[in-house]
Amino acid sequence: MDPLIRITVIDREGQEHHLEAPTDMNLNLMELTKMEGLGVKGECGGMALCATCQVYVESDHALPEQSDDELDMLDQAFFVQSNSRLGCQIYLHSNLDGLKVRIAPEQD
Ligand code: FES
Repeated sequence: MDPLIRITVIDREGQEHHLEAPTDMNLNLMELTKMEGLGVKGECGGMALCATCQVYVESDHALPEQSDDELDMLDQAFFVQSNSRLGCQIYLHSNLDGLKVRIAPEQD
């Protein structure tokens, strides 16, 4: 199976980035967008404790259930919408090929 998936990320300026992401490195979406230099801080390192990795999911992919930690963090975050997710809680698997997300505004 192709270990790369395609993900579209819309940055805070509205520009689309078409990324290819490996599925065999246990990466999450926060790490991918941070590595690509798209302005995502990921301050807590992926512990669901900062919300600086918040994204809006714009495609209708079936994502993993939100944990209580993710729901609690999004409860306290700014700019939350019904399609908000923490990027650090979304691991890159083959079923996410074609995923489209928009990076939420900065938290501070
Ligand atoms: S990196 Fe902190 S909540 Fe995702």
